[in-house]
Amino acid sequence: MQRKPLIAGNWKMHLTIQEAVALAKKVAASSQGLEDREVMIAPAATALAAVAEAVRTSPVVIAGQNVAWKEQGAYTGEISPLMLKDAGAKMAIIGHSERRHIFGEDNGMINQRLIGALTHGIIPILCIGETLDEREEGLTWEVLREQVRGGLEGVSGEQAADVVLAYEPVWAIGTGKTASREQAQEAHQFIRGLIEELYQKKLAEQMRILYGGSVKPDNVDDLMRMPDVDGALVGGAALEADSFDRIIHFS
Ligand code: 13P
Repeated sequence: MQRKPLIAGNWKMHLTIQEAVALAKKVAASSQGLEDREVMIAPAATALAAVAEAVRTSPVVIAGQNVAWKEQGAYTGEISPLMLKDAGAKMAIIGHSERRHIFGEDNGMINQRLIGALTHGIIPILCIGETLDEREEGLTWEVLREQVRGGLEGVSGEQAADVVLAYEPVWAIGTGKTASREQAQEAHQFIRGLIEELYQKKLAEQMRILYGGSVKPDNVDDLMRMPDVDGALVGGAALEADSFDRIIHFS
């Protein structure tokens, strides 16, 4: 089963519009002609439209860093799936650990966001991952099970075919402490098993599972060599054109 690798940059709360456009143009140049892998970037909301315009003639896909479940209305601070599409985004990161742990988003809310995205043809990247305490207490599998089941509650097999998952152990995000390739593989294999339980083997084999958490030029090749690692969700190293270029060109 061939799953096309996806290298995704999450720019988080960084870059002015001007800086974002300049970096996006470099990413577009890096991605020109690549057919065996996909490249995505998720700029801050303020830069979405300008970045989408800057990469319009390249294969780079644009994503929102989150998405609301309603089309419009009194939801101060939120961005609707229609607004994301209007700005040029085709994907949305949902349930990032920073949304879960800093802003208190739970599996129920994340599930609503995911369904909102799917309803409007936005491809969701559903992020899951355990904290260090949870790992040390032996709760990793239970947490992942809850996050996968909760996030995909009420999602049909047909809809789930569009979903991308991202395993981001919280202890590896922004810490410089990457999961070993064996730890990543073990978690990805477990997650694929959960998808098979919830849906079918075929869908589980088709679903892309990205790894995120201190992915850098010097560890990406090792991680991407693992059979169930189908891409990377990159934070810090995506903010610098040269390091992201190296990650895009993993071997
Ligand atoms: P870092 O690559 O900076 O660890 O961030 C990972 C991440 O949270 C991507 O969504």
